[in-house]
Amino acid sequence: MWAGLSRIGSVAAGALLLAGGLLSNPVLADTDGQSTFVTEDKSMAFGFTVPDIKDDDFFFTIRFPKEYAWGAIGLGSEDMDGALVLMVYVRSPPFLLRHKRHLLPRYARGHYEPAYYPNFEYRTLPGTGVTDNHFVVSAHCLSGCRSWPGGYIDVSDDNQKAIFALGPKETFRSNDPAAPLRYHSRYGSFKIALGRTRGAGDAPEVSDGSSNQGTEPHMQRNGRWDPKSTMHAVFMILVFVVLLPLGVFILRIGNSPKWHAVNQFISLLGALVGFALGILTSFHYQRSRKFVSSHQVIGYLVIAGLIGQFVVGVMHHIRYRRREGTGKLTPVHVWVGRIVIFLGSINAFLGFQFALVSMYNLILAGIIILLTAVSCLFTFHQGLRSRILRRSSAGSGFAFPKSSASGAGASGGFNREPWRSSGLDDDAVPYRDSTVDSTAKRGGGGGGATDLSRQEYSPPRADWPHGRPCHAREEQ
Ligand code: HEM
Ligand code: HEM
Repeated sequence: MWAGLSRIGSVAAGALLLAGGLLSNPVLADTDGQSTFVTEDKSMAFGFTVPDIKDDDFFFTIRFPKEYAWGAIGLGSEDMDGALVLMVYVRSPPFLLRHKRHLLPRYARGHYEPAYYPNFEYRTLPGTGVTDNHFVVSAHCLSGCRSWPGGYIDVSDDNQKAIFALGPKETFRSNDPAAPLRYHSRYGSFKIALGRTRGAGDAPEVSDGSSNQGTEPHMQRNGRWDPKSTMHAVFMILVFVVLLPLGVFILRIGNSPKWHAVNQFISLLGALVGFALGILTSFHYQRSRKFVSSHQVIGYLVIAGLIGQFVVGVMHHIRYRRREGTGKLTPVHVWVGRIVIFLGSINAFLGFQFALVSMYNLILAGIIILLTAVSCLFTFHQGLRSRILRRSSAGSGFAFPKSSASGAGASGGFNREPWRSSGLDDDAVPYRDSTVDSTAKRGGGGGGATDLSRQEYSPPRADWPHGRPCHAREEQ
């Protein structure tokens, strides 16, 4: 039925466009019998009339600047919950009908994107189109108009509650009546007298010169954005694109498991905050309220992987300190870590797509390329690397190898995974850390930098109760 009426509307609007010029001079009713609401900044206007003849219909006109993605009026409530939402946005262009407005009735049940309401039947009226850079929709609601799931309006009452909202300033087109929407940039509430508008059944007139008539503005707010969603993105990108790769860098180039652990722990906390914000944001939108979109599912897996990584990392370190050998934990830790960082970064791209802001993916790609270039420079640029090495030898806190177990030479270079290095088996020392350094110093080694070529791994001996001599435990 909705589709049928929509088609009638399309034909009406199409005929109007073909007639040419008519849109800018619509035939509209006398403004005396209507109630009109105009927002403080005059951007949005809404006119309402109730015809005498039938008992389930009304006429209305909505007008707002065309730079907004969508505009909406909600009837029957002073907040979102329980409002019948007269939602307007532009249809994807099928040739001549490209300027046809889309009126998409919805109902709201709380502080989240209103759901599509197919029982609302209407026909669009002359006057619908683009006038003076404003979208204008004039329509006659035929049924499902005065009561809806969760609310109703009393058309004889002169003190009815209503709300309005405008989407973000951007181009938005969709043929889907339940199309996913972005958060409002302006919203507010007002009171409207409906009883006084009873009379001839005509489309109300609204224009640049309209002023409040039979309405009383209540609350209006500007420039709202979805803070939870934005903070969710900030935390997640910081963790998966910056901090976690930095943790790898700290371990591989800085050779500091301690700071690696600290960094990865901070990342885990950040990811958990981002996760909580993601869950809270999910309640705002129809697209996310079922919690099963690919972005959300990948998010669960990545967060689970990250928690697992932390547990494995701690176990790995405990076993290493006890000289029990890390067994197969090291490659698991390394590979799960790589997968988590990769999937997490990919999920950031999916997140922007999910939030209907795919253009931010270009910025994200730019950040990733820049960070990759910087880390490659630090990893492979000999001069830069040896300068860092010199500084670390002078006691800057980071411990860089003068020579690598992989045989990369005294000038440094890429460190192979230690379990692959010659002389170390799968259960051997998985990384070089301060414990090993201090052992080296006890053995008479000087300097802040670790010399791996001098480290020897001693397999546990049966006559040592903890796999090493008691004095070694006492010293620690
Ligand atoms: C994408 C769709 C929408 C989402 C996610 C959304 C979400 C929200 C949220 C979270 C708030 C609370 C803001 C705060 O406490 O600061 C809010 C308030 C409000 N929204 Fe929406 N909204 C949407 C669409 C709409 C529409 C279509 C209208 C108007 C027809 C509207 C009108 C209002 C009004 C008047 C308020 C303030 C009154 C109240 O607390 O309910 N919203 N919205
Ligand atoms: C690796 C994990 C994740 C990353 C890197 C990530 C990243 C992002 C990013 C960058 C956005 C765009 C936000 C915006 O532009 O405002 C986003 C949106 C979103 N994310 Fe995530 N996210 C992750 C996990 C999750 C999880 C687990 C959930 C919930 C179960 C979730 C729910 C959402 C929702 C609902 C949006 C859409 C918000 C909107 O439309 O404004 N995300 N995410």
